[in-house]
This record gives sequence, structure tokens and C-alpha cells, in this order.
Amino acid sequence: MLRQKHTTPSIMQRLVFLILAQLLTTGTCDTNPGPEHEEKHEGNMLDHWNYEDQDWSKDHKLCNGKSQSPINIDTRKTLSDKTLPVITLEGYKLPETESLTLTNNGHTVALLLPDSMSISSGFSQKYVAAQLHFHWGSEITPGSEHTVDGIQFAAEMHVVHYAAKYGSLAEAAQKADGLAVLGVLFQVGPQDNKNYDYIFDKLQDVAEKGVNVHIPGFDINTLLPSQLYHFFRYNGSLTTPPCFQTVTWTVFNETVQISQAQLDKLETSLKTGDRTLDSNFRHVQPLNGRTVFASFSSLASSRRIVPKEDSTESEGDDKSGSESGESGIYSNNRVDGSYFTLGDMLATIFGILFGCTALAFVIYVMKQRKRQRSNTETGQKVIYKPAATTEA
Ligand SMILES: *[C@@H]1O[C@H](CO)[C@@H](O)[C@H](O)[C@H]1NC(C)=O
Ligand SMILES: *[C@@H]1O[C@H](CO)[C@@H](O)[C@H](O)[C@H]1NC(C)=O
Ligand SMILES: [Zn+2]
Repeated sequence: MLRQKHTTPSIMQRLVFLILAQLLTTGTCDTNPGPEHEEKHEGNMLDHWNYEDQDWSKDHKLCNGKSQSPINIDTRKTLSDKTLPVITLEGYKLPETESLTLTNNGHTVALLLPDSMSISSGFSQKYVAAQLHFHWGSEITPGSEHTVDGIQFAAEMHVVHYAAKYGSLAEAAQKADGLAVLGVLFQVGPQDNKNYDYIFDKLQDVAEKGVNVHIPGFDINTLLPSQLYHFFRYNGSLTTPPCFQTVTWTVFNETVQISQAQLDKLETSLKTGDRTLDSNFRHVQPLNGRTVFASFSSLASSRRIVPKEDSTESEGDDKSGSESGESGIYSNNRVDGSYFTLGDMLATIFGILFGCTALAFVIYVMKQRKRQRSNTETGQKVIYKPAATTEA
């Protein structure tokens, strides 16, 4: 019985050691390349790239770079960083008197935004809004660019901002810290999302490539998820040529819902040349050792210890994810023995702590009984050390 008392502390010591080892490894695995400096990009004005053949690096070398976007966000590999500052948006509520240009540029539909709109805090510098645009699929495929745990969402919106200090989008786009893009993932829900009708109702008017229409200003905040403080953050690139690796990405965890009818409109209204402009999403790119941060923590977003190869495999065509919409979508069904998340660690530690306490209590109770018995049987004093000291 006394032997038991001596073994419990050594288990604890081993655990503490394990925890320290875990913390150290997590800290030092954090090798983040960050945006590379762009090679001189070909200055041709030819705009010949398309989404069918995504081997864009022939004409745009950077598209083969090591920090490309989009990526699959593996929530089990994200590094939780609760110190990531909350994003604050300024000037997003546009007055009706503001006239906004909506344009079909042959690759997407873009809404040009005034430079009175900005991300006023959330980064170490101010980023000014330039435009927002969409990526979508078709009848047979969802069309988000970023995927989460291998799930591709129905569509995705990008709100593009550039660093105010560079004065213009064109200038900033070539600077390492030049761009900040907010990514919003769409899911299909039962109801129309009226906030998007300002844009979606005008899609038929910009069916042809190169056509513009004007729409009155509205509250652009209403296009974003309600919880802006839960997001993923990583260093990446433009998802179209010339693929500049100058984007600090913020992909919101919360999705936005639109109806199937609205999604259909997005997928079928625009043309590029004589074809329907659809499936304008780039395939996910290798992570190449980059860290993806999460502004929040959950069991699903703890970083695992064992580094493995990048996951580009998850170019999922899983339409169910974009339709079911409920919580379980980020839950991981895979059981992989090499994973050992912080959540697992904590669960184990608390389990063992509970076990130790229970054991100590049992020992204590048995001692007490023995003592009482021996007291009543012999009437002699018993030298007694309380077992409770093992818990110190
Ligand atoms: C992006 O790269 C910069 C420069 O290397 C680095 O300081 C920053 O921490 C990186 N940010 C993220 C989210 O990885
Ligand atoms: C992130 O999104 C998933 C899927 O919608 C949801 O289940 C989860 O609760 C969200 N997490 C946070 C912290 O918002
Ligand atoms: Zn985009």
C-alpha cells in the first residue's frame, strides 16, 4: 500500500515532462516562410489564363511559388493564437448616394469599393478596400477556393484590401505586406439572403465580359458573417495570375448562407466569351510548411505534434458539406494514431489527476479503518502518516 504512494508522483513527473516536451516542440516547429519576394513578373498584357488548365506558371512563374493560395485549412493543424487582434472595419456602411461599379471582368464579377472603406484595426497597418468578388462552382461542383478539413463550400467571396501606405492596389499588390483579403465561405440555406440581392439582382446586367453597371451603396457589413472574431490567418497569394505572394489571408470560420436559387444565379448568369462563366475557383495549393493560425481555440483546432507532408489531397468534391451546413462539418472522422492534440493531452492529464486523487482517497479510507480496528483491538497507539501527502 505504501509503495503505491511512491509511484504516483513519478507518473506525475513524467506527465509534466511530456507537457514541457510538447510545448517546446510546438514552439520550434513554427517555421513560417512568409511571403517570398516576387520575381519580376512578366509584363505581358495577355490575359490568356483560364480555370480549365490551371498550369498558370508557364506564363506566371510565381504561380508555382511556395506560398500560394488557396489552401485546405486543416483545423487540426492550425495553431491557436488568441492574441490575434480583432478585425475592425470602418466605412463599410455606404450611403445610398454612393454609386458602386459592378463589373464582369471575364474571370469573376467584382464590386469596386471606395477607399473610404478600410480595415482600421486588426493588422499592424491600415488596409484600404479595393473591391470584392466571388468564386463559384457549377451545377455539378461546389466552388469555394479555400477548403476546411477537405470540405469545399458552395462559393466564396473575397474582399480585397491594400496597405494604405502604398497608395494603390497595383502598387501594393507587389509588396510583401501589400494586401489583406477577407475570405467568406458560403453555404446553401433555406432562405434567400436579402443582403446579397443588391449584387445578385444585377448579375444578368453584367452577363457579358467587360460590361459594367452601377448600383447604389449599401451596408457592406451585411455581406459578412456576424462573428468576425473567429477566423483563420495565413500568408498566401492572389488566387489568380500573377499569383503575387503578398496576401495576408483572413478566412472567417463562420459561413454565410444564401439560398439555392441565389447560388444558381451566381453559377449561371455570367458569360466569358460565349461560355458560361462558372467553376472559377483555383485548386488548393501545397502548404509548404506554412502555419495557419486560428484566432480561436477548440479541440478541433489544436495543433498536432508530428509534422507530416502537406495536405493537398483534400481537393474534396464533397457537395454534402455545402448543403448540410450543420455543425459537424469540421469534425474529423479520420482516426490517425499519430495525432496527439493538446485537447487529448489535457483530457489525459485530468483523467490521471482524477485517478490519483481517487486512489489517495481510497488509501486514506483504508488506513483510517485499519487504524480504528487496531485501536479497538489492541488499544495501542499506531504511528500514522496521512496518505494525503501524496497529493502535494
Ligand atoms: C507572414 O509573414 C511575415 C513575414 O515573414 C511574418 O512576420 C508573419 O508572422 C507571417 N504571418 C503569418 C500569419 O504567418
Ligand atoms: C467554426 O465553424 C464550425 C462549423 O460551422 C462550428 O462548428 C464551430 O463552432 C465554429 N467555431 C467557432 C469557435 O466559432
Ligand atoms: Zn478571389
